[in-house]
Amino acid sequence: MGETSVIEPEPSGAEAGDGVIVTRALTKRYRGGQLAVDGLDLVVPAGSVFGFLGPNGSGKTTTIRMLMGLIEPTSGTARVLGRPMPRAARAVLPGVGALIEGPALYGFLSGRDNLLRYDAADPTADPRTRRARVAGALERVGLSAAAGKKAKAYSLGMKQRLGLAAALLQPRRLLVLDEPTNGLDPQGMREIRALIRELASDGTTVFLSSHLLDEIEQVCTHAAVMARGRLITQGPVAELAAGARGRLVVTTPDTAEAARVLKEQGVGDVVVEGERVSGEVPERDLAEVNAALVRAAVRVRGFGVERASLEDAFVALTGEGFDVAG
Ligand SMILES: Nc1ncnc2c1ncn2[C@@H]1O[C@H](COP(=O)(O)OP(=O)(O)OP(=O)(O)O)[C@@H](O)[C@H]1O
Ligand SMILES: [Mg+2]
Repeated sequence: MGETSVIEPEPSGAEAGDGVIVTRALTKRYRGGQLAVDGLDLVVPAGSVFGFLGPNGSGKTTTIRMLMGLIEPTSGTARVLGRPMPRAARAVLPGVGALIEGPALYGFLSGRDNLLRYDAADPTADPRTRRARVAGALERVGLSAAAGKKAKAYSLGMKQRLGLAAALLQPRRLLVLDEPTNGLDPQGMREIRALIRELASDGTTVFLSSHLLDEIEQVCTHAAVMARGRLITQGPVAELAAGARGRLVVTTPDTAEAARVLKEQGVGDVVVEGERVSGEVPERDLAEVNAALVRAAVRVRGFGVERASLEDAFVALTGEGFDVAG
């Protein structure tokens, strides 16, 4: 699909909904009939680290491929950096660094040569600064030492890092990263998270997908939760987690007695795990609950309300666990 010569009016921020990514009723039904994305309305605020969260098969990669103009939506619209996709792809894509599932690599070339070649294919990239930018990107993702190795000899995590380096060859307004920590070991995950925070502090908007709830909690300011192709909720991470109520947690060696007292005090869903007795936060004053435990000679080592996690919010919102839909 070529770009038409009709000039698209540049929408003001307000018209574009103030989002770096804005979708309206975005829908994708694959040829086989699979409804992969169903009426998605997404708004990614400028400057956010936006987590696109959902279990396997919930439509994350399909959405990202539509945003990047790699596949056509069945219906609905997507605007990226204020312009419609895929129509304005040629104008939009130079401003976007993307890492999409399974980055394409030339196995017979080294990691460094893959990046040099990738950069050479980008008409907006300055050839005079190419070597320095490639070296800088390799450094940022921790691949300098392995830069001379053939890409076919790279581990999954190294390939992932190389894909990320490709997205970082030029400064971008937006980074779209599909499961950027996929295949990385815990140390590698921490490094990539730190890198994402650093990029965000430079003002880059980062949109990343993940099926790891705690990862999203650690690195994202905002999140959208997908399940079976549909958007369940979106907003600031703190607000999403606050939507789910925390749990009252008592740490004690006297678990049976503590559980009995908590039930008596109107605490619902009491669960004992090791020395932890937890339950729903009751309506009544928690000081009374604590006093009742002490009166019953329960040795209370810890007493408090644990903040709800995004996972709690997800379960509360969907009424189901974080499992793969059929
Ligand atoms: N090319 C395709 N043709 C037909 N169906 C597809 C195709 N790609 C994906 N699907 C289906 O669309 C749904 C969404 O898939 P998608 O890859 O977007 O999910 P995802 O959220 O990225 O999952 P994961 O966390 O496993 O990467 C799934 O049911 C999948 O089987
Ligand atoms: Mg995916």
